[in-house]
Amino acid sequence: MSLSSRDSSFPRKIPLSFVTIRPAALFDLSEIMRIERQSFREQYPRGLFLMFLETNPETFLVAEYNGKVVGYVMGYLRPDGEGHIMSIAVDPLYRGNGIGKALMEAVIDRLIKRGARYIGLEVRVSNERAIKLYEKLGFKKMKIIKGYYSDGEDAYYMVLTPDEWGGRS
Ligand SMILES: CC(C)(COP(=O)(O)OP(=O)(O)OC[C@H]1O[C@@H](n2cnc3c(N)ncnc32)[C@H](O)[C@@H]1OP(=O)(O)O)[C@@H](O)C(=O)NCCC(=O)NCCS
Repeated sequence: MSLSSRDSSFPRKIPLSFVTIRPAALFDLSEIMRIERQSFREQYPRGLFLMFLETNPETFLVAEYNGKVVGYVMGYLRPDGEGHIMSIAVDPLYRGNGIGKALMEAVIDRLIKRGARYIGLEVRVSNERAIKLYEKLGFKKMKIIKGYYSDGEDAYYMVLTPDEWGGRS
């Protein structure tokens, strides 16, 4: 195997201090959608990302490393005061570096500062990696939503309160 083909397919260990979290922009969309395709069986349509950019510019964030988008998170504030995490994904090559945690911390901070009374999200019951990440951040499993996903899988609805987030923000 040549070095270049190894380079393109092996997970990268990178220092988190070199990763920047910033609001997403229109020119990030193709990279965001690439990561989405690599991360989920079903994808959101491009139009939804575009709408999200327009309606939630402060809580649609990307992680950038070396000029490349390596992850994103989409959050929004519901009229009832729930801050909701709609989607989060990290480029498979860059997982395990703390980027998912950094994206979640950044979006939670922004949602709480904008007045979220609590933060909610749904996650597949089989997605142990994401559940571990959310629990590490203080989210608690509140209930199971039967058949939430189109393939019939159940979801946990998980919640984080500002009290649990506590002195972190
Ligand atoms: C879930 C996801 C966003 C995590 O991103 P990441 O950058 O790899 O996560 P981090 O490196 O920040 O890890 C944070 C925590 O997640 C958990 N975690 C990360 N990798 C893990 C693994 N391989 N196995 C178990 N837990 C793991 C750990 O608790 C970890 O904390 P620690 O490093 O202190 O032990 C990423 O795996 C992903 O994009 N998955 C596909 C998309 C997806 O499932 N999104 C969630 C939909 S609800």
